[in-house]
Amino acid sequence: MKLLITGGAGFIGSNFIFYMLKKHPEYYMICLDKLTYAGNLSTFASVMDSPNFRFVKADVCDRMAVYRLFEEEQPDMVVHFAAESHVDRSIEAPDIFLQTNIIGTAVLMDACRKYGITRFHQVSTDEVYGDLPLDRPNLLFTEETPLHASSPYSASKASADLLVLAYHRTYALPVTISRCSNNYGPYQFPEKLIPLMIINALKGKSLPVYGKGFNIRDWIYVEEHCKAIDLILHEGKNGEVYNIGGDNEMRNIDIVKLICKLLGKPESLITYVADRKGHDMRYAVDFTKIRNELGWKPEMKFEDGIQNTIHWYLDNKTWWEEIIGGEYQNYYEKMYVCR
Ligand code: NAD
Ligand code: TYD
Repeated sequence: MKLLITGGAGFIGSNFIFYMLKKHPEYYMICLDKLTYAGNLSTFASVMDSPNFRFVKADVCDRMAVYRLFEEEQPDMVVHFAAESHVDRSIEAPDIFLQTNIIGTAVLMDACRKYGITRFHQVSTDEVYGDLPLDRPNLLFTEETPLHASSPYSASKASADLLVLAYHRTYALPVTISRCSNNYGPYQFPEKLIPLMIINALKGKSLPVYGKGFNIRDWIYVEEHCKAIDLILHEGKNGEVYNIGGDNEMRNIDIVKLICKLLGKPESLITYVADRKGHDMRYAVDFTKIRNELGWKPEMKFEDGIQNTIHWYLDNKTWWEEIIGGEYQNYYEKMYVCR
């Protein structure tokens, strides 16, 4: 089995590659990644020389490069992670989100049609459903919830999902889509809530909470998401959408306070800063479908997952120090100083 994994040098893609190399050592894995600011080749140091792994630097929007790779490798399945993934950046500059997340998905699916595959899997997000109110805790996103995206990021992902379903209906392309809640764990780029707070706390810097910190996300440990995708690839039905959730709704402020506690840092580091524009209030995922049809449910408790994550960032300082020493400084200044 040959798998083409796009965006594999990013957070979830790299965790997925490590998971699959262990789980299916007989598979051949090709990672296609543009290595944007979010992609990191050093993540692959331990697998770069594996005979069943190949890294290719390319842009999913580059039709010629994508077709060339398909011609050369003839992958059986494509798992499409590559995307611009950060809501705050999409608010500052939406264009690249439309390009990569929508056009890039179409180019890949065109290649799948041209060269033939057994499955194109679109890694999507619960953010395509928009948000839920705080005062109706029983409301959850199901696969039937209408798409109602709030940010340029989530609108671009919703657009890509529509295209994926259109390619299935129009060209009978064998596709599946998964819509997962907020992931956390090793190798997450420190622009996202949990690694940003861990690293700032370790450095004794202020912890910038947007608004009052009452927004709720449903957090899932990244490996649980990888397990679910593996299951969908092998047992999911073509044309279907599967929600993936952590069964773990938490307010941002409670996460940040917990990180302070676990690192022995004072809560006085917390600073309340201007809210995100159009900030989604609450995400909560109903994953009954994947549980009933494929037998998946999240196993990792948040208390354990967050400990693992903190230990990973403590043990892998070089990985993130290289990141925060570079262009990230300009990003941080632009987004947070005088916010
Ligand atoms: P990430 O930003 O950490 O990684 C994205 C990767 O895609 C990077 O390696 C980057 O170099 C690569 N990339 C970007 N543009 C590219 C292009 N034009 N061509 C080729 N490669 C390109 O993102 P992530 O958090 O790992 O998310 C991966 C996928 O999962 C995304 O599609 C995202 O929408 C989805 N998702 C993320 C979460 C989450 O909590 N992080 C939750 C649900 C779904
Ligand atoms: P984030 O990790 O960017 O994921 P998403 O916006 O895709 O859910 O943010 C998670 C939550 O944390 C979100 O409600 C915004 C909030 N947040 C902060 O309060 N401060 C921060 O510095 C960041 C990055 C996020």
